[in-house]
Amino acid sequence: MRILCIGDVTSPKGVEHLRHNLWRVRKENKIDFCIVNCENAALITGASASDAETLFSSGADCLTGGNHTMRQKSVYTYLDDTEAMLRPINFGDGAPGHGYAILDCNGYKILVINAMGNIHIEPTLDNPYPYIDRALEREKGRYDLAVMDIHAEATGEKMALGYAYDGKINVIFGTHTHVQTADEQILPQGTGYISDVGMCGESGGILGMNPELVVKQLRTRMPIRFEAARGEPLATGAIFDVDTGSGKVSSVERIKF
Ligand SMILES: [Fe+2]
Repeated sequence: MRILCIGDVTSPKGVEHLRHNLWRVRKENKIDFCIVNCENAALITGASASDAETLFSSGADCLTGGNHTMRQKSVYTYLDDTEAMLRPINFGDGAPGHGYAILDCNGYKILVINAMGNIHIEPTLDNPYPYIDRALEREKGRYDLAVMDIHAEATGEKMALGYAYDGKINVIFGTHTHVQTADEQILPQGTGYISDVGMCGESGGILGMNPELVVKQLRTRMPIRFEAARGEPLATGAIFDVDTGSGKVSSVERIKF
C-alpha cells in the first residue's frame, strides 16, 4: 500500500496546482491513498467547502486540518457532514467536525487521525495523547492500517508522538511549518515517520507568503495583511510504502512536484 501525504495547501493556487497535477503524480507513483493537509487553502483563513470539494475531485482521499481550520464558519457544517475531512482531534467535543475517520482503500480500512501539538502554536488545544489513545482504543479491530497527521510547530513534539505511537500507528507525518524536513525514517517498531512534509503553494516566498510583506511586518511589528508569494506553485510531501501484512513501512520517500 503506497500512501502519499502532502503538506499544507497555502493558497488557491496551491489548490489549482493539485487540481492540475495530483492524479498524474498518483498514477506515476502508484499511489493507493492520498492525504492532503488543506488548512490554509483559502490563504491563512482555513479551507472552504468548495476548496475541499476541488481537492477531493483532484485526487485527495482524505483532508486534514490544523490551527486555521476553524477560521471559516461556513465550513462547520461541511466538517460535520464530510467523513473524509478532518480537523485536529484535540479541539475537543464542542468543536464542529471530527478528528479521525476510518476510510476504505481497495478493501482495506485506513484509520486516519489528525492531531495538533501544544508547543508554540495557537490556539492551545488539549493534550493530544489522551485523544489519540481513546481513538485507537475505541476503534480497535475496526481498521487495518493507521495514519496520523500531527500538525505542530516543534519537531521534538512531533518526534515524541512518533516514538509514542511507533508500531501502533503505521504512518506518522508532520505538518504546519511549511518546510519539508529531511528526517524521513522508519522507527524501531516499523512506523514510517517524517517531521514535516512541507507545503503546496507558490514558491519563492517565506512559507508561501510574499517575503517583502513578511519582512515588513517583522521589522515594524505593525499589522500587515499577508499575500501569497509570486513564484511557480510547488507541492511537497512524502510517500510511505506500507506492507499490509505486517503493517511495517518499508520505505519513506520525499517528493516534490
Ligand atoms: Fe498550521
